[in-house]
Amino acid sequence: MKRFLTYIFIIIITTIVISSCSDLQTNIPQKSTDLKIHEEGIAAVGSPNFHGNLIKENNWSFDLCIQCHSSDFKGGITGTSCLTCHTNTGGPQACNTCHGDFNNPNLISPPRGINGDTLTTSKSVGAHINHLFGKSLTENIKCENCHNVPQTYNAEGHIDSDLPAELNFKGLAVSTVATNASYDHTTGSCSNTYCHGNFEFTKANANPDNQYIYAEDKIVGANKTVDWTLVDGTQVECGSCHGLPPKGHLGFGVLPISSCVVCHSSVVNKAGEIIDKTKHINGVVDLGI
Ligand code: HEC
Ligand code: HEC
Ligand code: HEC
Ligand code: HEC
Ligand code: HEC
Ligand code: HEC
Repeated sequence: MKRFLTYIFIIIITTIVISSCSDLQTNIPQKSTDLKIHEEGIAAVGSPNFHGNLIKENNWSFDLCIQCHSSDFKGGITGTSCLTCHTNTGGPQACNTCHGDFNNPNLISPPRGINGDTLTTSKSVGAHINHLFGKSLTENIKCENCHNVPQTYNAEGHIDSDLPAELNFKGLAVSTVATNASYDHTTGSCSNTYCHGNFEFTKANANPDNQYIYAEDKIVGANKTVDWTLVDGTQVECGSCHGLPPKGHLGFGVLPISSCVVCHSSVVNKAGEIIDKTKHINGVVDLGI
């Protein structure tokens, strides 16, 4: 009953506002974004009037919704709470509401980009999964290596700019000499990242016991430019980011992969498989145990 009365109250107020602003006009067309009263489909996923679309049309701002549904999203004057469906901490502002998996609060990155894309051929999706889950080469990649991660939905630099999302390489992605790491949205390619072989280890800085391995002043990676949307495995083959062993390393190009274990036994086995994913692509030289 209370909700019904509130509803009637809103209709009356709305009518007064509309008629006072428009004098003799009686047949005002209602655009969905006016939201005086929601159109059919506000709660129906897939409907053009679905509420997610309204928020998108408002550049992902909740300001309009808050006016009636209140800033705690508990319903305010409408009596209709957002939290009955948005049950994760943060309600509709939870990190998996707009990207990631709506049903899994621990999966906040694409697949499922902002516009619902799920295919790896979309730049919104690309190789997110390959970098973040089930990796065979390393365990060291975090969102923060490629993006700023907002602490809250409202944080500066999050939704206050147009798509595409900004890349900002940090930490592992830029270690040693890779401060020129960059991403090109137009081509969808990443260049000069440490992880894909823009590394340099110098004889001068090496432990004297290890300097014998230097055939040149430096050991360098292959510095591969990689395609963010190509996930067929060709860009993660042994020998693609650095030679076997790398340039400047004794035996460049001629040591069999089965030999790496002789000196790098904390990282690889005889079959050339990575046995400790925390030690490969971690920014430092790793040898025996
Ligand atoms: C009846 C249940 C229900 C209520 C009530 C509800 N939502 Fe949602 N909302 C959903 C569902 C389900 C989705 C996810 C749809 C999907 O899978 O794409 C969603 C998605 C969203 C999205 C993401 C849209 C997108 O395209 O990514 C936002 C933002 C959102 N809701 C905000 C709100 C706000 C704000 C309220 C309260 C004013 C609210 N919701 C009330 C069920 C609800
Ligand atoms: C002018 C006031 C007003 C504004 C602004 C408003 N709403 Fe509502 N909303 C209501 C009222 C009143 C209801 C309850 C109507 C009903 O029972 O269908 C409602 C119902 C809903 C429902 C349906 C819940 C259900 O269980 O069926 C959703 C979802 C929703 N609003 C989302 C939003 C979103 C998202 C925004 C911001 C884009 C928004 N609303 C802005 C007044 C408003
Ligand atoms: C290896 C680098 C990398 C990592 C790690 C990474 N991202 Fe991304 N992310 C990208 C690239 C590249 C894009 C695509 C930019 C574009 O649209 O061209 C992107 C886009 C996005 C987008 C926008 C999607 C859209 O629809 O446009 C979101 C949201 C996002 N990432 C969230 C995350 C979160 C959350 C994590 C961690 C759980 C993460 N990313 C980890 C590189 C990365
Ligand atoms: C209401 C929808 C919505 C919610 C909720 C949301 N995001 Fe986003 N997020 C976006 C949009 C839109 C973009 C793309 C922004 C752009 O173009 O720069 C984005 C982009 C991102 C990116 C890519 C880097 C960037 O800022 O562009 C990351 C990382 C991210 N969000 C993390 C989060 C985290 C963490 C939370 C929870 C604290 C969160 N998001 C909650 C809509 C949302
Ligand atoms: C995505 C790029 C990439 C690929 C693919 C790659 N590596 Fe590496 N590898 C690196 C980087 C970067 C380093 C530099 C040292 C570090 O940060 O661990 C490295 C270092 C090494 C080392 C030296 C030990 C160490 O980690 O310090 C060995 C041995 C090695 N890689 C073997 C392999 C083998 C075997 C494969 C195939 C299973 C492989 N790598 C594929 C990027 C790659
Ligand atoms: C005879 C011992 C030996 C063998 C065999 C060997 N390495 Fe090394 N490697 C070293 C030493 C010692 C260093 C460390 C130099 C330093 O401290 O700067 C090194 C450095 C490296 C580096 C530079 C960056 C880093 O993290 O260590 C890479 C990459 C690498 N080795 C890869 C390989 C690969 C791949 C193989 C097998 C094809 C291999 N190595 C075989 C002794 C060896």
